[in-house]
Amino acid sequence: MFTSVIIPAAGFGERMGATIGKQFLMVNDKPILVHTLERFERSTDIQEIVLATQRSSFPIIEEIRQKYSLSKLQSPVEGGQRRQDSIANALKQIDARAEIIVVHDAVRPFVHLKEISQSIETARFFGASIVAVRAKDTMKLASTDGRVERTLNRSSLWSVQTPQTFQRKILVDAYEFAEKHNIVATDDSFLVEQIGISPIIVEGSYENIKITTPDDLLLAELLFNRFIP
Ligand code: CTP
Ligand code: MG
Repeated sequence: MFTSVIIPAAGFGERMGATIGKQFLMVNDKPILVHTLERFERSTDIQEIVLATQRSSFPIIEEIRQKYSLSKLQSPVEGGQRRQDSIANALKQIDARAEIIVVHDAVRPFVHLKEISQSIETARFFGASIVAVRAKDTMKLASTDGRVERTLNRSSLWSVQTPQTFQRKILVDAYEFAEKHNIVATDDSFLVEQIGISPIIVEGSYENIKITTPDDLLLAELLFNRFIP
């Protein structure tokens, strides 16, 4: 079944505070984005990679494609203001044959091939899947002024990651619905939930961090020393 992955890579990395987008920072001798792209180049479940990035980065992407022999990587798509806009733009460029669409953050290089394949298999069967890990900390619900309202039941709480994978029609319908009703989200699952679909959780690993703040870079260096894809 033809499967495409959308990699949103058009962010500015404000929380990282570097002079370039964090997806282009080097970890273990390669840009973080390249590590991520290599996971999907290697996955036999994936036929095409559609990357959304800022227009000014298009030449760098071209260089990266050649230097690292990324045969599945298509010409980049221009990103938008929000992650959601970047993905909406990428969705329009997906191969007509694609039946399954995976979405994976450019800044999660520690995704295992098994997580990619389990996520795809689950979405094929159930329509939508998200990779997540069980919450480690006790979680509290608080008011905006920081007063604890109640303690949530940890056993039903998950920290959500990517890949998030969908049957094509479900993701397209969700994005159309979101546009029509001005729904904003930081993950694709939320948009799919709005059209009445409950994605199935695929339990992932705590290694699959989203590199967000400077301390995550230190952690990434450590993780690379022992990472087995
Ligand atoms: N992203 C995107 N388009 C945007 C914003 C984010 O494609 N307009 C991508 C990022 O490049 C990243 C992923 O979405 O791969 C997850 O977003 P996040 O971790 O928030 O990255 P940034 O938006 O770059 O970081 P920050 O929020 O700190 O500015
Ligand atoms: Mg962001």
